[in-house]
Amino acid sequence: MKISVQKGVLADAKSQAIILTLFEESKKLTGLALEIDKLSGGLISDLIGNGDFEGKPSQISVVYTGGTIPAKRIALVGLGKQKEFNLEKLRSAFASVMRHLRNMNVKEAAASINLNLIPGKKEKVVQAAVEGALLGLYQYTPYKTVGREDLKEMKELTIFADLKDYLLVESAVRKARIIADAVYFARDLVSAPSNEMTPSIMAQKARDISRRKNVSCKVLDKERMKEMGMNALLAVASGSNEEPKFIILEYSGSRKKAAPVVLVGKGLTFDSGGISIKPADKMQEMKMDMSGGAAVMGAFIAAADLHIPLNIVALIPSAENLPSGTAFKPGDILKSYSGKTIEILSTDAEGRLLLADALAYASGLKPETIVDVATLTGACVVALGDDVSGMLGTNDKLKKEIYSAAQNTGELVWELPLWENYHELIKSDIADYKNAGNRSAGTITAAAFLSKFVGDYPWVHLDIAGPAWTDKDKPYIPKGASGVAVRLLVEFLLNRVKK
Ligand code: BES
Ligand code: MN
Ligand code: ZN
Repeated sequence: MKISVQKGVLADAKSQAIILTLFEESKKLTGLALEIDKLSGGLISDLIGNGDFEGKPSQISVVYTGGTIPAKRIALVGLGKQKEFNLEKLRSAFASVMRHLRNMNVKEAAASINLNLIPGKKEKVVQAAVEGALLGLYQYTPYKTVGREDLKEMKELTIFADLKDYLLVESAVRKARIIADAVYFARDLVSAPSNEMTPSIMAQKARDISRRKNVSCKVLDKERMKEMGMNALLAVASGSNEEPKFIILEYSGSRKKAAPVVLVGKGLTFDSGGISIKPADKMQEMKMDMSGGAAVMGAFIAAADLHIPLNIVALIPSAENLPSGTAFKPGDILKSYSGKTIEILSTDAEGRLLLADALAYASGLKPETIVDVATLTGACVVALGDDVSGMLGTNDKLKKEIYSAAQNTGELVWELPLWENYHELIKSDIADYKNAGNRSAGTITAAAFLSKFVGDYPWVHLDIAGPAWTDKDKPYIPKGASGVAVRLLVEFLLNRVKK
């Protein structure tokens, strides 16, 4: 969808539909809604007076203007109670109304955004509305060949802004566009089936990214990883005919010497569990086991496009985990890139093996910080549910930064502890560590394992196993790949600069 910003007032918009937001319990219309109500002969007050529209969160009513104003329809969308209002409600409202209009086959709409919806957050308000609109309209359709003509698409949204706000609105829209595009990128990668999203294809996507200014891409192939001793990663890939790739993206937005922020994303293009094979039921969902890698690549794109003045490295260790005659096995012992040895208890605890080598590589870059993102454990879904990511790490300040970024973007994260006692659970009798504990505290033992490979650098791990994929439509996350953590990481990076 194209988005443009236009100077002027919404009442004059010659549009298929103009969008108006209203709070619940707004007895008296004010501002733009009042103006449009008067012009349209009381259409809006009628709707409210008759109880058809109450302004409940994301409630929608569409009325025809009958030519009283240039626009053909008015689409009202509720924002809920004013005192409960936040950016998340705004994202949801715009997503819902845009989706509603699209499903009515409306192709073009106009809106103006009340910059004072949240005092002191003009730019954030515009950004949230536009991100919501774009994210809610996402559809993954490349494999639909039958009935393509029935696919509906919203083609254009025009945002009307006062002359005095024009520049602010323009720049917030540009930012929202970049961020939403990055989320689309991540969702596309995750939605793609594993036969068409192999490690090699992920690497190619990364090379495409590196056409940007100040960005470079290096891909380590199997031979190179062998020379380097990335045996944990290689073991995971050993059961598959698909070659593993270690993807390195670098963006220099700051002084050459400034230590980089390193983002690491798990890139399992398919996780069958390997010899410790998973049940067949829902196994198809494991094409999404590269969601962390996709999120990191998406955030990296946005960071480069927003010209964030930081040095950023994205590392995506990518492989496919399959059982075969060449696959690694329970009981195997691997010497990881760090030199530490790992006893395999389950080949299905493969993500931490890829990450072990990637995190060790990250710490070799003498980073300022390391953040890794991974669909790491089913236990995290058990502990926190489908909507919340687990957060674990060694540095309180960094955890606070991630937590507050997540609060701003509406991506829920909750901390789990990484106390000393948990480290006992991954000690091996014959090697340094084992790659799985017993059934207890599965998300924590996974993170305890990762912590052995990050050195002393500030590090946070996000387990996105729950929210990476959604089985039901949410207002701005249609069913399927969510692109979770892209916006969170971008917000985190942007906030780092301010300090
Ligand atoms: N990719 C899975 C975790 C996962 C499960 C992600 C469900 C999304 C939804 C991971 O590789 C895995 O299989 N973890 C095991 C670890 C166990 C063997 C210690 C798990 O969670 O069962
Ligand atoms: Mn697994
Ligand atoms: Zn996995």
